[in-house]
Amino acid sequence: MSLNLHNKDFVSTRNLDRKTIDAILKESSKFDKGNYKKLNKTIALLFFEPSTRTHLSFSTAVRKLGASEIGFSNPKASSLAKGESFSDTIKVVERYADAIVIRHPLQGAAAFAADLSSVPIINAGDGANQHPTQAMLDLYTILKKKGKIDGLKILLVGDLKYGRTIHSLVFALSNYNIELSLYSPPSLALPERMVDELRSRGTKVNILENLDFSGQDVIYATRVQKERFADLEEYERSRYKISIKDADTMKRDAILMHPLPRIDEIDTAFDKTKHAAYFDEAANGVPVRMALLSLILGGK
Ligand code: NCD
Repeated sequence: MSLNLHNKDFVSTRNLDRKTIDAILKESSKFDKGNYKKLNKTIALLFFEPSTRTHLSFSTAVRKLGASEIGFSNPKASSLAKGESFSDTIKVVERYADAIVIRHPLQGAAAFAADLSSVPIINAGDGANQHPTQAMLDLYTILKKKGKIDGLKILLVGDLKYGRTIHSLVFALSNYNIELSLYSPPSLALPERMVDELRSRGTKVNILENLDFSGQDVIYATRVQKERFADLEEYERSRYKISIKDADTMKRDAILMHPLPRIDEIDTAFDKTKHAAYFDEAANGVPVRMALLSLILGGK
């Protein structure tokens, strides 16, 4: 078992190597089977941005571990509303908690907190930048549904520019021998520097002109990130939908993933089909986050 997560921050997937990711996935499977030890720690959940799954699955993970939770999901109810700085908030909370889980609208907020804090910081999403725990549960979902990650053809669809789940997922996937295809509405392409970095890591990246599902083992769709657009008309132009008719062009065993929330990117008619993996994906947030908290805070 890899121990290099012990007492470490978890802010990005960029520097995660395959050994560490494989260890997280293996550990997640143990937690999934109910095979784990209690964790006598206090974990702070500080959510400066809306959340359903990430917040509730971290909260469930903390409870199942027998650990204690403190924190807020509405910063308006904290002293931030009185004008207290983010830095002071972190310096205080680190004195109450053994680890701090943070979601924040600003890119770099988690890394900034990690520089300040003496306790581990876990990034639960910082602006359009990273969402590394989501990437771990996404990989866990792929592994559980497909039995492997190597050798798969994976299509990422949607807002590849602002989607932080995408930015974390692509770097995590670059540790595996996969073929990545990208399709986005105009102006929401994966930033070129990321495409270059993935290719320099040896990942095969295809940029699709048309949305083509054929041959793909995993289709990962994302919400167009309305809150990150300066121009709402551009947002309206960028919306897309995967219709149930598209199922005819998919491999029979292709899985359809989505970090959720879904607005209208995936026809709800998919929910009853074997393709739909998104609700199981959300469920996997609990064992994966339990495993991460234990690897970071558990005994060596
Ligand atoms: C995502 C997020 O917050 O980045 N949701 C999640 O954590 N599952 C995706 C999104 O908001 O579109």
